[in-house]
Amino acid sequence: MGAITFIDNDGTFTIKNPENYTGLYFPLAGEKKIKSSITPNLSGDSKLDQNHFLLEPVSIENLHSNKNTRNFWCNAEGKGIWSVCGSSAFAEAEKFTGGQDESELTAGFMWQQLSRISEKFGLQATTTNFVTVEGDLEIMMVSLKNVSDSDITLTPFGVIPIYGRSADNLRDHRHVTSLLHRIFAFENRVEVKPVLSFDERGHQRNDTTYFVAGFDENGAYPTQVYETVEKFIGEGGSYLNPEAVRTLKTGTAIPAKTEGKEAVGAFQFEKITLKKLEEKTYVMLLGTSINAQRTQELLAKYHDKKSVGKALNRVKKYWKKKVNVSFYTGNKEVDNYLKWICFQPILRRIYGCSFLPYHDYGKGGRGFRDLWQDCLALLIMDPTAVRKMIVDNYQGIRIDGTNATIIGTKQGEFIADRNNITRVWMDHAFWPFVTTKLYIDQTGDLEILLEKATYFKDLQSNRGTSHDLKWNVKYGNRQRTSDYQIYHGSILEHILIQNMTQFFDIGEHGNMLLHGADWNDAIDMAAKRGESVAFTGAYVLNYRQLAQVLQKLKTACGYSKIEVLEELKILLQFPENDFDSVIKRRDALEQYSERCKHNISGKTIIVDIDFLCSNLLKKADYMAEHIRNNEWLCNDAGDGWFNGYYDDHGNPVESCKSEPVKMMLTSQVFQIMSGTATDEQVRMICESADKYLYEQSIGGYRLNTNFQEEKFDLGRMFGFAYGEKENGAVFSHMAVMYANALYQRGFVKEGYKVLDTLLKAAMNFEKSKIYPGIPEYFNNDGVGMYAYLTGAASWYMLTMIHEVYGVRGEYGDLIISPALTEHQFDEQNMAKLEFEFARRKFEIHIQRGESIHSATCDEDELTVEDTWNNKNRVRIKKEILEQLSADDTHIITVYCS
Ligand code: G1P
Repeated sequence: MGAITFIDNDGTFTIKNPENYTGLYFPLAGEKKIKSSITPNLSGDSKLDQNHFLLEPVSIENLHSNKNTRNFWCNAEGKGIWSVCGSSAFAEAEKFTGGQDESELTAGFMWQQLSRISEKFGLQATTTNFVTVEGDLEIMMVSLKNVSDSDITLTPFGVIPIYGRSADNLRDHRHVTSLLHRIFAFENRVEVKPVLSFDERGHQRNDTTYFVAGFDENGAYPTQVYETVEKFIGEGGSYLNPEAVRTLKTGTAIPAKTEGKEAVGAFQFEKITLKKLEEKTYVMLLGTSINAQRTQELLAKYHDKKSVGKALNRVKKYWKKKVNVSFYTGNKEVDNYLKWICFQPILRRIYGCSFLPYHDYGKGGRGFRDLWQDCLALLIMDPTAVRKMIVDNYQGIRIDGTNATIIGTKQGEFIADRNNITRVWMDHAFWPFVTTKLYIDQTGDLEILLEKATYFKDLQSNRGTSHDLKWNVKYGNRQRTSDYQIYHGSILEHILIQNMTQFFDIGEHGNMLLHGADWNDAIDMAAKRGESVAFTGAYVLNYRQLAQVLQKLKTACGYSKIEVLEELKILLQFPENDFDSVIKRRDALEQYSERCKHNISGKTIIVDIDFLCSNLLKKADYMAEHIRNNEWLCNDAGDGWFNGYYDDHGNPVESCKSEPVKMMLTSQVFQIMSGTATDEQVRMICESADKYLYEQSIGGYRLNTNFQEEKFDLGRMFGFAYGEKENGAVFSHMAVMYANALYQRGFVKEGYKVLDTLLKAAMNFEKSKIYPGIPEYFNNDGVGMYAYLTGAASWYMLTMIHEVYGVRGEYGDLIISPALTEHQFDEQNMAKLEFEFARRKFEIHIQRGESIHSATCDEDELTVEDTWNNKNRVRIKKEILEQLSADDTHIITVYCS
């Protein structure tokens, strides 16, 4: 019981009696507007944004106890009352005392269907919930069927409470805000229009109407309407045993207006008699609107079973099409899980990190690094709008290389941080180039580097350590020059500033300062002396790759020089001989930051690309050697790994010689990825990770060993219970990046182990207790936590395509260099990938074997080329790709022996 069963190849799954598992929730959303969560009992919430919740906000802890949510009841003559979703006082009891309904949930992208059969009532109810593609409405469709041998006479009731205000008012002014409610009961709906909205923005006139409507399969209206909670549940009653349902209470005389009450959209429908196997369907709509006409339009569009059924089919088709990547590894279950992983980045784009029950933090905005990493998956699945998104996002970079931390809802909108002290995450400058590089590889569009964008400007200066007191709101949020013009610099210049300033922003041990934190948000208490060796390694990777891209810009596009702002000279001309001097490097940064504190000169200099490349490579080599020489830890037992951090007392954080051993996964990943770790070191890291971090039954590699200390001089992570979240959980995001790094270095067996263990842990439903997909982390019990919204999904998908299948772009060419292991082929020794590249659809068939001996595309022979690591690969040049028809699916077959 309880296992997930897939019923197709598009991720559609079923699960029996899912209500017996605590913590399950499912996302329902549209492209815009409504974002809902729903449990197997139809609990959960629904919102447009932080200030517009249709249903009362829930977090993971009250998700399963909160019953003021969607429901549908039958009052059956001679039998009593039955909730079709098991959300009743009786079902709660029967779950443990016997007589529980048989239930099964079927779900696909953005829709779920719950089937419950009650032996006692002789009824089967099939309840389908979804949100329209546009996100205008959440729809619940309930079909009641008589599965007994005799006629059943019953009165149906649909119920959806209306919270209708900001999440802030959950506790703050909960009652007072209900006094603002103006509730209108009509023959087919209840509307709530609060007079004002009370939230962090102050008291504002409210324009949003929240509504719930109900009708039967033919569009017939309810017979009774209840618009206030007190009327519906009755004195001393509850949503689990509402008076109106129990007593067939008479509703409100229509039309009615009520003020200052908690609201509900509850309807009694006409009494019916269902004969054996006879069925009848009801529909409930939940939505918002800003004018009466819009409400009417929505109600006219979805008015009976047929129109609602059409909308459901559209939802199914639409989201299926959006996930245009399919893997065939010979294991249908794995392939279906991978489908959900590919869907997760879409969910994160829609929900941010704030709007699912575990994700109860933040107010809907996305973090800066998430913004860039979410683009990675989009680049694979829906690259059309990404160019503009990338260029727009660069507008969030300050001239000192840091970035705006408050991100607006519109693309490219960044908001001034008026805090006295701003937080600088030292990894932020790493991600934009990673995404831009992927974009260039996917498209060959090197010219994006020369596209111009503005810089962000606010009170913060000198990389979060000072303020530009000459700045004010009137100045605006764009960097200006000394003659008060808004400055535009190339994307390349933005990238250079971000990465160059990092080289100089170092601590006493010569590694980059931690500032507010790095990727690990919870290493956040070492802002003075803390250093992140881990991400110093990440920037080494950027320096090397940026040098490569610049060379390509020269050879492919003929640019030998580029233009950058004059002030950057201070950093570019810093003598190599002084790299060892922390003081001189910091001084150079100080000089640069001071020159850029308020306005910049607006003057530019011309820099030779060859000079820039060698400048970057020297920095990369120097830093890599510095890390290898100073941060490698090893002991007599043969353990070895890199120290990744210094704490606020200036002490190294990791150690392998004293007990307890202290090892962190993040510290290894970027040294592996950047080539800083030698092959021998990678081998030792793998062995040590296996020895100290690996726990197969809970997903594999933990983020760190148990330091057994609170470490207030490093970060809040040490306050978390060990094995939870950033303190030593199997944290999917970093585990996947570890796998990615290993594959990049040719450690295929080791990389596969990381990916496989992680996925198997998610697939072990009885333990992970999570719907298909990859969670943010697995706790000590192997339970998957923080479902759906994790950056791990983008990286998992990317690693599967780019590293495992080895299918990736290289300046617009398509490269195939598989690293599949024996478990990833079907019985015919073939593996398949369906995906889109260069706006063409491809099916790539890969035969099992050591090396490629030939390949074809639609029967045309392809070039197989040798590479430095004795592997060969297939290349299809951009020009050839462009000649392929954009309408057909092209079959590429890679023959191996
Ligand atoms: C989350 C955040 C991510 C952060 C990570 C570690 O990871 O979204 O930005 O780097 O925690 O603190 P996610 O849930 O995306 O896996």
